[in-house]
Amino acid sequence: MCGIVGYYGPREPKEVILKGLKSLEYRGYDSAGVAILDHGHFKRVRAEGKLGNLENKLSGEKFDGRLGIGHTRWATHGRPSERNAHPHCVGGVSIVHNGIIENYAELRERLIAQGAIFESETDSELIAHLLSEEVKVQGDLLKSVLSVLPKLQGAYSVVAVWENQADTMVAFKNGPPLVLGVGKDEMFMASDIQAIMPYTKKVVFLEDNDVAWICGSEFKIVGRDGSERNPPLTEMEWSPEQVQKGGYQHYMLKEIFEQPRAVAAAISPHIQLDSQTVRLHQVGFSGAAPHELTRLNPESDWATTEKVFSEVDKVMIVACGTSYYAGMIGKYLIERLARVPVEIDIASEFRYRHPILDSKSLTIVISQSGETADTLAALRLVRAAGGKVLSICNVRNSSIDRESDGHLYMNAGAEIGVASTKAFTATMALIHVLAVAIAKVKGAISKDAEKIEVQALLAAPSHLDTVLAFEKFFAQAAEILKSVKGFLYMGRGAHYPIALEGALKLKELAYMHAEGYAAGEMKHGPLALIDEKMVIVMLAPSDELYDKTVSNLEEAKARGGKVISLGTGDNKRLKDLSDHYLALPEAPQVIYPLIETIPLQLLAYHVANSLGHDVDQPRNLAKSVTVE
Ligand code: F6R
Repeated sequence: MCGIVGYYGPREPKEVILKGLKSLEYRGYDSAGVAILDHGHFKRVRAEGKLGNLENKLSGEKFDGRLGIGHTRWATHGRPSERNAHPHCVGGVSIVHNGIIENYAELRERLIAQGAIFESETDSELIAHLLSEEVKVQGDLLKSVLSVLPKLQGAYSVVAVWENQADTMVAFKNGPPLVLGVGKDEMFMASDIQAIMPYTKKVVFLEDNDVAWICGSEFKIVGRDGSERNPPLTEMEWSPEQVQKGGYQHYMLKEIFEQPRAVAAAISPHIQLDSQTVRLHQVGFSGAAPHELTRLNPESDWATTEKVFSEVDKVMIVACGTSYYAGMIGKYLIERLARVPVEIDIASEFRYRHPILDSKSLTIVISQSGETADTLAALRLVRAAGGKVLSICNVRNSSIDRESDGHLYMNAGAEIGVASTKAFTATMALIHVLAVAIAKVKGAISKDAEKIEVQALLAAPSHLDTVLAFEKFFAQAAEILKSVKGFLYMGRGAHYPIALEGALKLKELAYMHAEGYAAGEMKHGPLALIDEKMVIVMLAPSDELYDKTVSNLEEAKARGGKVISLGTGDNKRLKDLSDHYLALPEAPQVIYPLIETIPLQLLAYHVANSLGHDVDQPRNLAKSVTVE
């Protein structure tokens, strides 16, 4: 994962790089470091742990140069330590790297045999060794990068600098993202536009195998063979207030509270309020790149989308983690409404299982970041086999967004907390709209039925608002909940993915044992886990599976578990069976998965917070998983 920043220009490189790293810290926080020109040499400062440690170390440091690079690390090769922190500096060359060099053992051995001395356990350091050898021969950083590139195997994005060319940065990538920012008399390189946006909105997204050469305020992009490429300069839209905490203690809490708005923003472009119908907007199957979507003619755009949907006889959904659980909801919705079979897979499994791909299936990939390595690889696999990919991303112009045929946006706004919250609910709502749209094209839904779905979706934001009130309950209950043995989350039907998501949130934030189960599966094994120290979180809103769910709850209760149940309204039966009963508002059945998500997020947030964990940056994790 890791976040990288490079800067050349008249501002203080230290300030620009630190600010950039701060906005990229979600990508990793095992260590951080900078190398900035000072009196003709790169001065390197590094620190183990979060960026704050580096900031402290840098507070008294001064640099007279205009060029510098920085890095925030998520450890792959070599444990988190200052010694393994980037930048790696060898013979006047300094580099920062995001990714994995797969043939590093072999390259490292060869370099050691030639006399190289490695000071870290990382795979990254060898890039600095290779470049420092090459600049001695070539006398030029760009030429050296082009000679070294064929030796590297794996996924990488790298920014390299050399003290003999004090106005030059060379960046190259194969896999993890890199963006070039073009300012007035200043240039930026970063893993994510967030590090660049405060200074310039003009960016170039590098493609795999691109090499970006920056010299003063000039730049060019070349291929691995040195031939020049002219990629488009994209003008970004961005609002800085999205990345503030807005008075909340944590980004995660702010993002939980933003969900009514996020869900409304996800669905509103595709809902026609007067007729209460669905029509997808700016999908771009006609071949428009993401930054050109606003220029599409809505009529012809919808016509191409209709054509794609009408030819589809199978849908595949591919994603990772929380996005995968949102995809599971998508399967329930698309199959129920459009009667099209849906296959769903975790991207890391899908890409290696030799999936059967054909031109009549539509693959939906879901990714908040748009950069998840496995999801991106799955997308490429599908497209290489001639299949069509519709992506659902939050980050516009991310790699997945740029490489897909059609585009839908979560519109959730920047999600900074490492644990996904609003992107999950926004995706569930959006995929519901998508299911209705496919159903319409397939003639599987009547006008009246479409209206019912639309009305349910339009009602969702206000119900989400109502359940935010459970904040107080979980703030108090957390003190007791934090000392239990573990949690079993259970639900049937579309509540099952929510049970999985609830358990994932608790695991990743509170570091406690939690499992999500299809309630009907309990007696096939997990019931043995239940005793009075185990908490059961039962998702039992009133729907067609309610009675069966309650029977499963009786079985669990009979084994002594402590029960928190979520049901509809004032439900005596559930109250009697539960230690704590949370009354969800009366709402259309189909949106209960959305509504019940919020209490589960609040539960995980408060338990983790009362345990004193860093809720926004849980240990060992990073927001954007750009390695497989
Ligand atoms: C969990 C979480 C992760 C992500 C997963 C996929 O809270 O955030 O499980 O959902 O890493 O990330 P994206 O959606 O960016 O592809």
